[in-house]
Amino acid sequence: MRLAAAVLIAAAACNSGSAGPEAKPTTSSPTPSPTPSPSPVASSPASVERGAALYTKLCAQCHAKDGTGGAADHAPSLVNSTFLESATDDFLRRSIRVGRRGTSMGAYGKVEGGVLDDTGVDDIVAWIREKGPAPRALPAAGAGDAAAGEKLYVEYCQTCHGDRGKRGEAIHLANPQFQQMATDAFVRYAIDKGRPATKMQGFGSVMSARQIDDVTAYVRSFGGPEPAFKLLPAPTGTESLVINPKGQEPRWTPKPDQAGVPRFVSVDEVHKALAAGQKMIIVDARPESEWRSVHVTGAVSIPYFDVKRITSIPKDVWVVAYCACPHHLSGIVVDELRKIGHRKAVVLDEGINVWRRKGYPVVAVEGLPMPPDEPHNHGHDHGH
Ligand code: HEC
Ligand code: HEC
Repeated sequence: MRLAAAVLIAAAACNSGSAGPEAKPTTSSPTPSPTPSPSPVASSPASVERGAALYTKLCAQCHAKDGTGGAADHAPSLVNSTFLESATDDFLRRSIRVGRRGTSMGAYGKVEGGVLDDTGVDDIVAWIREKGPAPRALPAAGAGDAAAGEKLYVEYCQTCHGDRGKRGEAIHLANPQFQQMATDAFVRYAIDKGRPATKMQGFGSVMSARQIDDVTAYVRSFGGPEPAFKLLPAPTGTESLVINPKGQEPRWTPKPDQAGVPRFVSVDEVHKALAAGQKMIIVDARPESEWRSVHVTGAVSIPYFDVKRITSIPKDVWVVAYCACPHHLSGIVVDELRKIGHRKAVVLDEGINVWRRKGYPVVAVEGLPMPPDEPHNHGHDHGH
């Protein structure tokens, strides 16, 4: 273990720079260990097969073909043993249905404006379940001291997981949807056992049981009520494509990708061009459900998994595609456009979350919170 002084310095640095509200030290009450989901997914070979097809179409882009994660955007593994032991079918279902707002994990459930009905969601869960252990009863979390847990969190967790107002590269634990789905026992189990063969080590050998309870209590203090949103109306697919049809062409020099091919324009450049009334098409490459919660003003929805509409895009107009990733899903749409001979298709470099944080124009549901601040984006992971 490192020295207490280091903890204090780190804690002070964090407090002065923290964007979010300060955590109130609270003591969590012990929760009973969760029983496995009351309505487990009914698995059958047919459902697993359907789930595999849906998974390949919608999820493999980020969570990798076999579900082990890391294909893009630091998407976590969905098949890790300790994850599947502790996640109920309901945790998986709800994660897929509602996504994780402010991250690149979109909402896929029909009720949230997504493409999957309940059967589709259950089929994917059945496919995931095939790959690892069934959920088991977890040891209950003890009553922890969140204030003591905060110090440990700052020392051991924050570089990877960020804090309330700022993301790290690993799963954002302050995300309200995550907090709603997780239980104290789920969080405690992850801290204790880690996620084998990932960057998430088990802290059971480093911390006492008491300390793990304290960190768990602190992580749970991130939780709070999630405001309810009424989604924007669904896109009709007939919205006009071109913004400022009479405007001039933007004159920008897209940054090259690793192969030296021009590919990325910055949010500042695009914003400047729009403010000058210049002509372009902006494509939102995320699931339609995400467009219905917030999109760049004038952007049309063409999700990465259903790009039919790109055939109606005029080839002489600049197209800027974006996602939250910041450029994996947008990269897929740009590649599809290039395949059909479009030479002016580029990726919005920093993605929509940075666009929003800069206060550039969006259409959004009322009361939508700002996405958490993101770590600087080193290199371009659009690799495909
Ligand atoms: C654009 C990339 C992307 C796509 C596409 C995507 N996900 Fe995710 N998913 C993520 C990220 C990133 C997270 C973690 C969110 C965070 O960082 O807080 C995540 C989290 C999850 C979780 C929660 C995992 C945990 O450990 O808590 C589940 C379950 C999940 N995704 C399933 C799916 C399924 C099923 C699909 C397809 C229907 C899908 N995802 C599509 C990026 C993606
Ligand atoms: C070196 C980076 C790193 C550090 C340090 C770290 N984690 Fe993690 N953590 C991760 C990664 C990466 C994952 C997701 C692994 C995967 O793909 O399954 C994760 C997963 C988790 C999860 C599971 C979330 C879910 O939805 O499945 C919890 C809870 C968690 N970490 C809490 C903590 C806490 C608390 C600490 C400090 C005691 C900590 N982590 C330290 C990288 C880290």
